[in-house]
Amino acid sequence: MKLLIFAGSTRQLSFNRRLAHATAALARERGAEVTHIELADFDIPMYNADLEARGTPPDVMRLKRLMFEHPAWIICTPEYNASYPALVKNTLDWVSSPVKSDPDWTDGFKATRGKVVGVLSASPGALGGLRSQSHLAPLLLNLMCWLAPQNFALGRAGDAFDADGRLLNDFAVKNVQAVIDQVLWAAERLAPAT
Ligand code: FNR
Repeated sequence: MKLLIFAGSTRQLSFNRRLAHATAALARERGAEVTHIELADFDIPMYNADLEARGTPPDVMRLKRLMFEHPAWIICTPEYNASYPALVKNTLDWVSSPVKSDPDWTDGFKATRGKVVGVLSASPGALGGLRSQSHLAPLLLNLMCWLAPQNFALGRAGDAFDADGRLLNDFAVKNVQAVIDQVLWAAERLAPAT
């Protein structure tokens, strides 16, 4: 199963980037064919319909194609003010915007419809960014994704990783594995062929 993993932070020492990295390693152990991307590698401006009218940015198209090609995704989101960051919203808004000039991409939800998505979060706080997940869920449903009910929020993330970025705590590992397993299981059954 092809699994796309990304974090909703571009910060150098981001906990969510580290969680995405650890999740990718665990998913590979589970036999998934993992594509781990960094949103920092995509040159995506703040959404503006005037800008879009001059042409959808090439990196938006690159991300659309990547998302389309992967039946299963895991998103590791930070929590900003009890919700998810603008980076995540902006990225998903671009991805779901129809490309009127390209007959292959006039369907705005082509890249997202039917994808099985697992959500993880990490925060230095005790709740681990759990509240960001409750806001991200309706956005993903609007994009026609299947949302895996299994989730995990990594609290006290400053103490959660070793120097090599591995999760220190067995409880965290088991919970991340449970999300991976459910996403892979559900994607086999629910996600459309690409
Ligand atoms: C935060 N942070 C934060 N943390 C949290 O648990 N709940 C919250 O509501 C917020 N709110 C918030 C707002 C803003 C504007 C910022 C910049 C930060 C702290 C946040 O969890 C922390 O900076 C994480 O380290 C961000 O994730 P990454 O970049 O480490 O992945």
